[in-house]
Amino acid sequence: MNKTIEIQINKTANSKLPHTDFENLAFGQTTSDHMFIADYYDGDWHGMRIEPYAPLSIHPANATLHYGQSVFEGLKAYKNKEDEVLVFRADSNFRRLNESARRMCIPELPEEIFMEGMARLLELDRDWVPARPGCSLYIRPFIFATDEYLGIRPSNKYKFMILTCPVGHYYAKPVSVKVETRYTRAIEGGTGAAKAAGNYAGSLYPALQAQKQGYDQLLWTDGKTHQFIEESGTMNVMFVINGKLVTAPTTTGTILKGITRDSVLILAKELGMQYEERFISVSELQDALEKGVLEEAFGTGTAATVAHIQRIHVNDKDYVLPEKPRDSFSYKVLTILDDIKYGRREDAHGWISKY
Ligand code: COI
Repeated sequence: MNKTIEIQINKTANSKLPHTDFENLAFGQTTSDHMFIADYYDGDWHGMRIEPYAPLSIHPANATLHYGQSVFEGLKAYKNKEDEVLVFRADSNFRRLNESARRMCIPELPEEIFMEGMARLLELDRDWVPARPGCSLYIRPFIFATDEYLGIRPSNKYKFMILTCPVGHYYAKPVSVKVETRYTRAIEGGTGAAKAAGNYAGSLYPALQAQKQGYDQLLWTDGKTHQFIEESGTMNVMFVINGKLVTAPTTTGTILKGITRDSVLILAKELGMQYEERFISVSELQDALEKGVLEEAFGTGTAATVAHIQRIHVNDKDYVLPEKPRDSFSYKVLTILDDIKYGRREDAHGWISKY
């Protein structure tokens, strides 16, 4: 990134900070004071600006409303004890945003717009980064089509925006999941690897069916055979079986290339934990549960970080996993990740940028 960009700043006269309850932060309900906006038209990005957080006015024929041409990212900012703002792996989120954009025929975003837009927004709203343990400022960059046209083709106009929300834990307790063998999240050749809005819309109905049966989320299987585990809810999923970490590979284009997933695998290597990126079948999973050799199961994602799975439903049977001791791999790796993110541990990987 070497270009600098001009950003117009219009500060709010009415900060919501004094009315915000930082002790009770539900995920995604509270937004901070400002938002970043850039517009794409005539083949380039224009009008970089920060404005008071406010609703947008949308044309009824807006292309995103009708055809869902929209991609997003999620990353987090943390406060260290010196009151500095630390952001985890922003470069990876930037790259993935453009990978998603390419798949959805959305023009790529220049790195300086992403990075400077975020930096200026964090500067302005730094008091919105919670200083309390377990809390952070969730950063949501997104791009969506803004053509006012009902014909179907890639839009000629887009908006890139960043909004931020102070958040606490995504899951307050370990989660229960159900293996899904009817509905499909992604299929080879589809959009599963993109962080595209439509992927999440399509997952809502199956997830709701599972929630009605008392499960928090689904364990998605592959769309062709429904025999292999791919993801869990909106997270990547990992298992420890007989002391070895196993997670699905991201080579089929059906699985999101999770940044937390990647970080966990890097740390696993450093911790001397054996791991395999390979597909695990539903029957292997059930067999491991039956034999009691499935030691740990957890989801990984930006919002949830490492979410312990406590109950798994497979082929009409519920299996409850034992409580995770403090020396389990998932606890260890979560602690290391948190220590890096909150600046309590050396950032040996260059994952942190400071603001
Ligand atoms: C994230 O982990 O950032 C996600 O995208 C999950 C989100 C759908 C809440």
